[in-house]
Formats: sequence, structure tokens, C-alpha cells
Amino acid sequence: MNQTVLLPGGAGFIGSHIAAELLDLGYEVVIVDDLSNARPDVIDRLEKISGRRPVFYQADVADRSALDRVFTENRIDAVIHLAGFKAVGESVQKPVAYYRNNLDSTLTLLETMATHGVKKLIFSSSATVYGAENPVPYTEDMPRGSCTNPYGWTKSMIEQILSDACVADPALSVVCLRYFNPVGAHESGLIGEMPNGIPNNLMPYITQTAAGIRAELSVFGNDYPTPDGTGVRDYIHVVDLAKGHVAAIDYVNQHTGWEAINLGTGCGTSVLELVHAFEKVNGVPVPHRIAPRRSGDLAFCYANVDKAARLLHWHAEKSVEDMCRDAWHWQENAKNL
Ligand code: WQD
Repeated sequence: MNQTVLLPGGAGFIGSHIAAELLDLGYEVVIVDDLSNARPDVIDRLEKISGRRPVFYQADVADRSALDRVFTENRIDAVIHLAGFKAVGESVQKPVAYYRNNLDSTLTLLETMATHGVKKLIFSSSATVYGAENPVPYTEDMPRGSCTNPYGWTKSMIEQILSDACVADPALSVVCLRYFNPVGAHESGLIGEMPNGIPNNLMPYITQTAAGIRAELSVFGNDYPTPDGTGVRDYIHVVDLAKGHVAAIDYVNQHTGWEAINLGTGCGTSVLELVHAFEKVNGVPVPHRIAPRRSGDLAFCYANVDKAARLLHWHAEKSVEDMCRDAWHWQENAKNL
């Protein structure tokens, strides 16, 4: 009997790529998503990619009776929890909404899992939990730091909640995957990142600028203590990231307790390096100019990836060029979807 994996928030950018990997590998996939930041036809596109259709419930994960129904109607083996608000800037404007939504959905999920005896959970966490205090590369044994925004704090708080839950229930198995900067898209061009309005993140801003939707990219600061003065990040291809989740399912199946694991490449790339790689691999210009620093940004953010290799037997395989090519393919293809 194939394992059934529940993906709360599974219709979004990262969840849809995880769903595609799981369907390809023969897992049964159940998605619960309120579609507040995803399109309903992503389910059709997943079916197009894999030839198999995930079970889909349009519901808020914090809706206890809706979630209870999902667990009653499906024999869930493991959960990959991706539901949450994720816009850093918006979280500063609407902190209460962010804490309410992200914590509430997690607590409801944990209670419903307990009611139905489901013990395996993978949580979509973020490198942002390292805060500003820790030196790069980040290792998982570093203490979580002070986040610069409520979005980041919700990730940090949820990690703590999950760790406490594991102490109380020794049968529970939780892996918090700390994502670095997921970019790129599925090579089919059928799923990818679809930001609402003006993108906050670098790669969608680059693709929209290359497509002429935005006039130019603002490079936020060129006076950081980095080789070319622009911010350095650990960009990871979303398909590699999705494969890291599949590896984490094997891990939670064989272990109990709480672990945090970085999902990155271990390599830093600057803003200008990414822009130039994108222009070169795709043969399109990305008009850009240097602008003031964005508040809250760090000079460097990249992972030590030894723990993922050791515990998950996983490492990222795709290059920055792959990320740029697939992001552009998606941007061009998404016009027709
Ligand atoms: C990357 C680099 C910017 C836009 C954030 C959150 C994190 C996670 C991912 C998600 C930085 C520079 C960006 C632009 C630019 N959250 N930049 N011009 O800040 O590393 O991480 O998103 O769910 O929690 O903090 O990613 O893509 O915004 O920025 O120069 O228009 O690109 O200054 O150096 P970041 P990013």
C-alpha cells in the first residue's frame, strides 16, 4: 500500500513542486489549501505533469471541522505542513493576522493529528530563524536568533511548539526544514512561483523585469562587505528542495523526536552574480540600478548542508544556471496558462 502524504498549503509554489515529486514516485497526495495565495487550476496542472490527480480540499487549515474531515476520509501517514502567510513586509504591517494565521493553523493541525494518531510531520521552516546574531554558514546547532519581522517569528515560534510537542509525545517525529532561498520552477513550465502584485523576492522580480512587466530591478545596496558589495544568498532550485522533502519522509518514518535541517546548496551567490547569470543563460537583458539597502537585510545568508547529507542522504544538484533557465521558462510559459 502506498503512503499517503497530506500537504496543508500544498497548492502554493513550494507545495505544488513537492506534490509533483510525490505523485511521480507513486505516493498518494492529499492537498488542503484555501487558495488564498494559489490558483485552483494548479491541481489540473499537477495532473498534467504526473498523470495522477491529487485529492484536493479547498479549506483553511485552521478550520477544525474541515481538517478533521480530511483526516477521517483519508488514512494519512505523514504531513508536510506548508500552510502559512509568507510576505515579510506584510507581516510587519499585519503582525496579529500573521501570528493568528500561522500559529492557529499549526495548532489545529497538531491537535487533529493527535486525534487521528498521525505521528510524522515535516514543517516548512526558514533560514530566517537564525536571525542576525549567528555567523554564516549556518549550522543547525546554533541557537535560533532574533527575527527582524513577525513572519520570521512565526517560523521560530512554530519550531519551538513542535519541539515541545516532541518532548511530550515520544512517538512523534518532526523535521523542521529550514529553507534558504527557493527559486526556479518545474522544468515542465507548468508550475512555478506566482506572486500577487509587485514581487518582494529577487528571482520573480528579475523574471518580471526581463519580461518587461517591471521597468528595472533595484539592487538593494552595493556597499555590503561581500565580494561585489551586493547581498549574498543561498539560492536553491525548488525541485531540489522538493526532493529534500521526499528524503525527509523516509527520515521521519524511521525516527522519532525533533530535528531541524537546512535545505540549501551551501553556496552563496550575490545579487549581481544572479542577475548576470540570468542574462547570460537566457540571452535577455535585466535592466537594473543600484538602490539603497532594504531594511532588515543581511549581507550574507548561506547554509552548512552537512546535516542534510548525513541524515537525509540528500544534497542539491541543480546549478544557478538551471535555476535561472527554469525560472525564465516558467515566466514565459505562465502567460499562456
Ligand atoms: C534576496 C537578495 C535582497 C529584491 C526573504 C525572507 C525569507 C524568505 C525568502 C519567504 C537580497 C536582494 C531583492 C529586489 C534586490 N521568505 N533584492 N532587489 O531577503 O534573502 O529572504 O525571502 O518565504 O524569510 O527574508 O530574499 O529574494 O527578498 O532577496 O536587490 O528587488 O536580493 O536585498 O540581498 P531574502 P529576497
